[in-house]
Amino acid sequence: MTERKSPTAVLREGPRTLTEDQVREIEETSLEGVLHVDIDDVIEYVHKDLKSLPDYTTLYRRYLKQRWDVYDLDFSQDVVDWTEKMTEAERESFIAIASGFHHGERQVEIELPVFMIGASEEEKLHIAAQIEDEARHTVFFDRFYREVVGLRGDDIMAVLDASFSWVSETFVGPFGLLAYQADEVRRNPYDERARVRYGTNYFLWIEGVLALSVMKVTLSYARWRGFLPAYYTGFTATCRDESRHVQGGMRYLQQAVRKDPTMINEIHNTLRTILASSGVVSRRIYYEPLGWTDEEVRLLFRQQLRRKLNDVGIDLAPDIEDMLSRAQPVLAGG
Ligand SMILES: [Fe+2]
Ligand SMILES: [Fe+2]
Repeated sequence: MTERKSPTAVLREGPRTLTEDQVREIEETSLEGVLHVDIDDVIEYVHKDLKSLPDYTTLYRRYLKQRWDVYDLDFSQDVVDWTEKMTEAERESFIAIASGFHHGERQVEIELPVFMIGASEEEKLHIAAQIEDEARHTVFFDRFYREVVGLRGDDIMAVLDASFSWVSETFVGPFGLLAYQADEVRRNPYDERARVRYGTNYFLWIEGVLALSVMKVTLSYARWRGFLPAYYTGFTATCRDESRHVQGGMRYLQQAVRKDPTMINEIHNTLRTILASSGVVSRRIYYEPLGWTDEEVRLLFRQQLRRKLNDVGIDLAPDIEDMLSRAQPVLAGG
């Protein structure tokens, strides 16, 4: 177990500065090396390039270097930690959060192909890579639920069905909206407004806010307690993949607003829809066993959203700030 600063203290410290050596370590480390990388540094790394967003070809080349083999992970120590060392309350909290991902990774994998149709050729390379990343993340969670949590099933869908009872209905908020938005893009793949609405929900909210917040909560718990090394390794490598997805997505939104400043309304309206539908919670997620309070998770959300929009030069409307400060911490991810 390592010494732990409270999440509030870490959040108040504000942005970290990464040295060139740290950036090189995050970008180039092999899968085994990922276990020794601090998750807070990887989350900082997501923001590193947001001010000077890398182009899609650069992101595609990074993907070729960073992709990892999900079948290289060995979950045997995770099984010992899960069954013998974690408390019932810790397992319950963990699974309430992780199940959003178990379903979320698979959903973003299948909703992404329609977004490729209206994209530039360079962006298509990046999206093709992202689809493969999301497929790998789906396998990662399938393995974790089978081998560590102990769910049974003949195929991926059967294991998903077995974890569905842990998914809070708030999961269907952003993900239900994404299914609808993907259908809109499927019918009109070149409709830029529909693409911006889809991109706001998927790349900014689901990946940029929800996924990174859940990564920070579960991975800082695993690091603090010294538990679940294969989960830590695979999900931190997933976070590095998400940095490319978020950077590509923010580049898309930034360019869309530069081409047509009225696109900001699509971004704001999408955020209003998401925030208005959050907060309906019949299955509450308890963060305390993982070392977080509700207020800390809420603060993390706000910080994640504001930083991304600031860095790409998109302002939040005052009524959205207000909705955000009232929103329940609702976690799911992709
Ligand atoms: Fe992603
Ligand atoms: Fe993912």
